[in-house]
Amino acid sequence: MKILMVGAEAVPFSSSGGLGDVMGSLPSAIKKNMTFDDDIRVILPLHEITKNKFMDKLTFVGKINVKLAWRNQYCGIFECNHNGVIYYFVDNEYYFKRADLYGNFDDGEKYAFFCKAVLEIMQAVNYFPDVLHANDWHTALCVIYLKCLYANQERYRNIKTLYTIHNIEYQGVFDFSIFDDVFDLAGCDRSLFDYDGNINLTKAAIVCADKVSTVSERYSQELLYRYFSGNLHHILQRYSYKLCGIVNGIDINYYNPAKDSIIEKKYDWKHLQNKAVCKEAFQREFGLQINQNIPIVAVISRLASHKGLDLIKCVFDDIAYENLQFVLLGKGEYEYEEFFRNEMKKNRPNVRIILDYNKDLSRKIYSAADILLMPSKSEPCGLSQMIASRYGVVPVVREVGGLADTIKPYNPFDKESNGFSFRNYNAHEMLHVLNYALSIYSSKPEWQELVKTVMQKDFSWNKSAEKYINLYSEIIGN
Ligand code: GLC
Repeated sequence: MKILMVGAEAVPFSSSGGLGDVMGSLPSAIKKNMTFDDDIRVILPLHEITKNKFMDKLTFVGKINVKLAWRNQYCGIFECNHNGVIYYFVDNEYYFKRADLYGNFDDGEKYAFFCKAVLEIMQAVNYFPDVLHANDWHTALCVIYLKCLYANQERYRNIKTLYTIHNIEYQGVFDFSIFDDVFDLAGCDRSLFDYDGNINLTKAAIVCADKVSTVSERYSQELLYRYFSGNLHHILQRYSYKLCGIVNGIDINYYNPAKDSIIEKKYDWKHLQNKAVCKEAFQREFGLQINQNIPIVAVISRLASHKGLDLIKCVFDDIAYENLQFVLLGKGEYEYEEFFRNEMKKNRPNVRIILDYNKDLSRKIYSAADILLMPSKSEPCGLSQMIASRYGVVPVVREVGGLADTIKPYNPFDKESNGFSFRNYNAHEMLHVLNYALSIYSSKPEWQELVKTVMQKDFSWNKSAEKYINLYSEIIGN
């Protein structure tokens, strides 16, 4: 089988969150589980950040022109072998020489160009996949163009599609005024795109794709309810026969405290005394009291409302007055940045807040922390709880989406429990469970056992890569 995965970002080339982690690690995991005749390749935009950091590692393949309505745009094609997988990069400085991956006024045009380019690149590099696997709304138009504009061409006709929803909060909603002129969809059925009077690319991709997946089983069930669906439950219910969930894994070689050179001292579950060295170094570096007996509670998260930050806001004083050290790393919505900026002004000796997205610093925090707090309102999968586990940080999570699928709540008699969880979206329920976790922390032998279990939990891609391969086969009809 031949697979082509497309996405807007991938570690290490570009990343702003979990999607990048998945795009950077899932393809090679799939490749390792495939037979020799099979192939998987990836196409990404050549963002400015990728150009700055990786240009010397990329090879120029060729250039083509890509038409988007009346536009005729240059499209350079570069490639790079990343962990055994060919990654292609779409070069066009007009669209991609920008500091941010998303959030520009012309995001719709930028990603429409990218999607058109993907379909043209198949021809240019002569790689026509059996399954085109698109990820999130930025690549929804690949699926749509394939069905609406390319399906009458011989080599495109048999390409099947999988559309993966990493987060339904971001749907790609645009005004119909750009339907012809920007999206180049003149003559296509407007009702396919119409949702509440706007173009909704996620809706159209769900309708067009052969299969729709999401990044945990629980989230695939939750999406059928209005509360979780970002208002697309009607569509997801109608097409529920296409929908399935495959839980994400993480790159366990990249997230490995036994090999990570960023952290103070490398460690594994058999050498937890070295994690204590990391904790001490962190406490020193960040001016916190140096004391192994004070637990460090970390929040490492995009500051978006669905991450449950309202709960933290609501009882922040209670949390901060506990006998703990609180460290937050993240940036995002103004409301939360402002809240935490105000908290910083209080100069509490046990609170450190860093409003940034920084992968290296996040691993330093994981190496030092004892508890990760992740009280998401909704969570398609969540990667922080898995990364934290690798570094011996015990997750305290809300039982929702992928968090429910990956964390089994603590029960002293269950040797498989690997964290703490609470059910309702309620700040005091969160606080209660956090306090329960802190009480176990103070009983050292019990906590050490728990940390060892947490660290040994298999969060590799292996099982899920196998499931993707089965799903591809099912789509192809083998
Ligand atoms: C999004 C989701 C997160 C998921 C990630 C990768 O960032 O919010 O839950 O783990 O995508 O699929």
